[in-house]
Amino acid sequence: MSWNASPDAPDAAPAPERATSAGDQDEELQQFALALIASRQNVSPKRLGEPGPTPAQLEAMFRAAAAAPDHGELVPWRFVIVPREKRSLLAEVFAGALIDRDAAATAEQVAAARAKAYRAPLLMLAVARLGPADPDIAPAERLVSLGAAIQNLLLAAHAAGLGTGLTSGQALRSPRMHALFGLAAGEEPVCFVNVGTVTKRKPARLRPDPKDFVREL
Ligand SMILES: Cc1cc2nc3c(=O)[nH]c(=O)nc-3n(C[C@H](O)[C@H](O)[C@H](O)COP(=O)(O)O)c2cc1C
Repeated sequence: MSWNASPDAPDAAPAPERATSAGDQDEELQQFALALIASRQNVSPKRLGEPGPTPAQLEAMFRAAAAAPDHGELVPWRFVIVPREKRSLLAEVFAGALIDRDAAATAEQVAAARAKAYRAPLLMLAVARLGPADPDIAPAERLVSLGAAIQNLLLAAHAAGLGTGLTSGQALRSPRMHALFGLAAGEEPVCFVNVGTVTKRKPARLRPDPKDFVREL
C-alpha cells in the first residue's frame, strides 16, 4: 500500500520504519492508520486531475465502503458513478437547477454551474436510502452508515495516493437531480464524491480539539 502524505499536513507522519517483530508490526499498523486518517484532507474538484483511480483502486475503495458499520445490515446507501460521456447530462441539471432557483442568473453563472460537472476524473453521487421505514432503523442511523462508508472510501483513495473532495449544494435538492439519478422514494442525494490526482494542495486545516467536543456525563 502506498501513501502520499501531504508535505503541508502538520499531522502527517513519516513513512513507517520496517517492522521487526509482531509487536512492532502492530505498532506500525496503528501509527500508519492514525497518520492516514489525520492526513486526509478535502481537495477541491478543481484541483483533482488525471489520472483517476485504476479499476483495482476503485474496487478497493468500494470494498472499504462496504466495511462501514451498518445497523440491521441494510446497506442504506449506494454510489452512482457519472462517467465522462454522461457528464453533459449532469451539467444540464446543474444549469437547469440554477435557472429554476434564479431566473436572472447570468450566462457566466450558468456556465460556471455547468463546469462543475466536468472536474474530477471520478465523480459519483452518494445516495442515502432513508426509507422504507421497515425495518425500523432510524434515518439518522442510516445516514451515519453512509457517512462511515464515504469516510472509508475517502481513506482507501487517500491510501492509494489519490485526492478526494466532497461537494454538495442546492442543485442536489432539485427534482432534475432526482430524475437524472432515478432516485426512488426514500432515497436522498447527500453529496458528490470527487476523486483524482491532486494538482495543488492547500495547507491542512487545524482540527478541532477533543477537549472541545468530549464531555463526561
Ligand atoms: C456531506 C458533505 C458535503 C460537503 N460539501 C462541500 C461543498 O459543497 N463544498 C466544499 O467546498 N466542501 C464540501 N464538503 C467538504 C468540507 O468542506 C470539508 O470536509 C471541511 O472543510 C473540512 O475539511 P477537511 O475535510 O479537509 O478536514 C462537504 C463535506 C461533507 C461531509
